[in-house]
Amino acid sequence: ASGCKIGPSILNSDLASLGAECLRMLDSGADYLHLDAPCSSGRHFVPNITFGHPVVESLRKQLGQDPFFDMHMMVSRPEQWVKPMAVAGANQYTFHLEATENPGALIKDIRENGMKVGLAIKPGTTVEYLAPWANQIDMALVMTVEPGFGGQKFMEDMMPKVKEVFGSGVHWLRTQFPSLDIEVDGGVGPDTIHKCAEAGANMIVSGSAIMRSEDPRSVINLLRNVCSE
Ligand code: DX5
Ligand code: ZN
Repeated sequence: ASGCKIGPSILNSDLASLGAECLRMLDSGADYLHLDAPCSSGRHFVPNITFGHPVVESLRKQLGQDPFFDMHMMVSRPEQWVKPMAVAGANQYTFHLEATENPGALIKDIRENGMKVGLAIKPGTTVEYLAPWANQIDMALVMTVEPGFGGQKFMEDMMPKVKEVFGSGVHWLRTQFPSLDIEVDGGVGPDTIHKCAEAGANMIVSGSAIMRSEDPRSVINLLRNVCSE
């Protein structure tokens, strides 16, 4: 895809140095920051917990207005954090289709709060469920691991879903909605970026492959170059 953007996921970074880690990523050429906000409260959407809107607010203060914050809300009841995240300085609010009974109302609320809308599906959810919302969202996130933790193995069998969203499959979402962004998240790095690029993803989340590298800039550049080929 042309104009691929690379968004490091800081889930696997040293969370006690979050601001510095984000700065390190931005200095290394990150196009945006993918901020994972998993939460184990309520109906246990994922078995992990990181941080909430107070931390996002602090990051915004420290990093200034420019960096794009893509909030990956791996939470049950995503409705409750829309306003707090908007106030804290989030740019995009990505929620899981599986976590809400009323995606339409949530999409509307996110927009009214001035954020872009991302809609995520877990590996077990097909594109069929996402398709009805495609005309109302900015980004479709096709998870390439079970959400919750960084450092898991890339699920190549998710690529047909990306292709469907991109337009070569039955749903042709990208064809109908050319401005729709398609993000992949989970196990993406130099070894797996080719598959994602070929399938048509244009927003690339990469956690451990970038964070654990001694030269994050070269990994980010490599991912962007392969994806934009
Ligand atoms: C997984 C998270 C991802 C994760 C990616 O639940 O949504 O954003 O941090 O990390 P890697 O690239 O290490 O799989
Ligand atoms: Zn994520």
